[in-house]
Amino acid sequence: MRHPHTRTTRTTRRRVAGALTAGLLCAAGLAAPALAAPARTPAAPALAGGLALTPPMGFNNWNSTHCRADFNASMVEGIADLFVEKGLKDAGYQYVNLDDCWALPDRDANGKLVPDPARFPDGIKAVADYVHAKGLKLGIYTSAGTKTCDSTGFPGALGHEYSDARQFADWGVDYLKYDNCNNQGVDAQQRYRTMRDALKATGRPIVYSICEWGQNKPWEWASDVGHLWRTTGDISDNWGSMLSILKQNLPLAPYAGPGHWNDPDMLEVGNGGMTDTEYRSHFSLWSVMAAPLLIGTDLRKATPATYDILGNKEVIAVDQDPLGKQGTVVSSGGGRWVVAKEMKDGSRAVALFNESGTAQRIATSARAVGLPDADAYALRDLWQHRTYNTAGTIAATVPAHGTVLVRVSADPRWAVHPPAVELGLDGGTLLEAASPATFTSTVADLGRTPARQVSVSLTGPAGWTVRPTSATSASALAPGGALRTGWRVTAPSGTPAGSYGLTLTARYRSPSGTPVTSALPLTASVVVPPPAGTSYLGDLPWLSATNGWGPVERNTSNGESAAGDGNPLTIGGTVYAKGLGVHASSDISFYTGRACEKVTAEVGVDDEKGTKGTVAFEIWADGTKAASTGVLTNAMPAQPLTADVTGAQVVRLVVTDGDDGVDSDHADWANARLTC
Ligand code: GLA
Repeated sequence: MRHPHTRTTRTTRRRVAGALTAGLLCAAGLAAPALAAPARTPAAPALAGGLALTPPMGFNNWNSTHCRADFNASMVEGIADLFVEKGLKDAGYQYVNLDDCWALPDRDANGKLVPDPARFPDGIKAVADYVHAKGLKLGIYTSAGTKTCDSTGFPGALGHEYSDARQFADWGVDYLKYDNCNNQGVDAQQRYRTMRDALKATGRPIVYSICEWGQNKPWEWASDVGHLWRTTGDISDNWGSMLSILKQNLPLAPYAGPGHWNDPDMLEVGNGGMTDTEYRSHFSLWSVMAAPLLIGTDLRKATPATYDILGNKEVIAVDQDPLGKQGTVVSSGGGRWVVAKEMKDGSRAVALFNESGTAQRIATSARAVGLPDADAYALRDLWQHRTYNTAGTIAATVPAHGTVLVRVSADPRWAVHPPAVELGLDGGTLLEAASPATFTSTVADLGRTPARQVSVSLTGPAGWTVRPTSATSASALAPGGALRTGWRVTAPSGTPAGSYGLTLTARYRSPSGTPVTSALPLTASVVVPPPAGTSYLGDLPWLSATNGWGPVERNTSNGESAAGDGNPLTIGGTVYAKGLGVHASSDISFYTGRACEKVTAEVGVDDEKGTKGTVAFEIWADGTKAASTGVLTNAMPAQPLTADVTGAQVVRLVVTDGDDGVDSDHADWANARLTC
């Protein structure tokens, strides 16, 4: 795995004297009375105008191929073909972009760039012509440094800006991603402005994508330099990376707008390191953040589910809304996020995003997301493609790592839509085999109209018994009313510990008779009681485990990719035979069944990452943080950590990233023990 900062030439923040003077002149001009200056035509904007008025959409090969040989003309042309054949062009995808590794390492005798003949036998112009013939556009990549980022050392454009830009324009390039490696410490604003001017000088409209990873806060100075700017380091195809980038990009909402976008990096949807639920969250959240939508998977191998996600036009319409506002956080806490985006038609796109590893209810209101007061609202579910009415509440039980994405408007026609109902199930969802557990389901009418002929059912895996203990139907639910039903659920004896799917389904009719079926997928966990006495947690089954990189490891450190690829747990030179090896951000839960008293461990950053890695450890007893450390670094020895977990049904071992991103955060729960 490569981390961007390991191969970055440090950028000095040298202030350019000229920039400072210009700033002072501006300030002076503001204070002075209006001068009778001769009327002048305003200077043309420095950045090509009229481009990227909505966030750029397209494809870039990097996340799927990196520098591999399968990045070549036939791949790029194959993607262009699929854009047309699969309706992605119609959905708005336009740019087909080449990333690093398209060139030969050396310029020719005239200082010109040379496309790699093995990858692009007919050159870049031929690929551009192919892509243009399909009504699409071509993008290319280089670095604002002496070489690009790949360790092979391809030529960068620093000092060659005008010549390289001319070459790109002559080839018919429509988009440039301009990276930051090997920048020789030259001021970033100067480097990125020079290329902007060089692109402008070609006379060809070229979208200009600044890729300096947010190191120089481009959101503060680049709105007339580039059409978009990366705000973070590179994304990777895992949950922890996506989440960390999301959290860095969300606060930058005020800086985004038509022609100047925050870029939280390209999509990983379809690359296999996350579940489809997680990819739907990734795509929903990128759209609510008005992020560029650059597909990063090889569409020639993509599944129907990947096409469904990337091709969801209602979600794309959120991203591409012409008002160009990036969504903002309405509320967050306990892993429940509400992010709302103002849309040109006055509606709001609202993402209810569950960061946590268990299903949770997430709720907000029309007023909280900025809608005017109204009798009722139309609420469109952008993944289910159905519209309801709501009196104002926007709420759902959202599966672990999932997102419910809706578009809500004060639409006078709200009454034609059936009322929204909210489904929920309380009572924890933990059960021991052969021992009945009791759950309560709720079907609540959130609308302004009644739900009629309401019925509810709960189904479990084959062999389970699921019996209602109270009414499962109601002739009508008034607005605000709810049908609550008790359920007794038994998993057959011998059911192995693990997660099992249950489905809660509600059926009802709108006042005009429209039938609606609404289903909520849930998970129940079959658990085994914890053993009496003291046990090593590395030897016990867990309820759930999430980890920043690769799987949680038992009794070894975290090796970052495959199961079993770790090393002996080692903190400050001490080797431990027992424990759990994780990578921030991590969360492991164990069933303790109200039968245990204590968790102890010696915790710290594993030695295997040299001087890198900062993390903090937390032990949770149900909803209470029972013990925690401050931020620990690799230089520190193991710290003892003990938590009183008396009475807890579930204990969680959590590792956060020490608030500095998730790079190299190898964290060890050495000697972690549970006493029951
Ligand atoms: C940097 C960029 C990536 C990618 C690679 C190519 O890491 O941030 O997006 O372009 O370089 O080497």
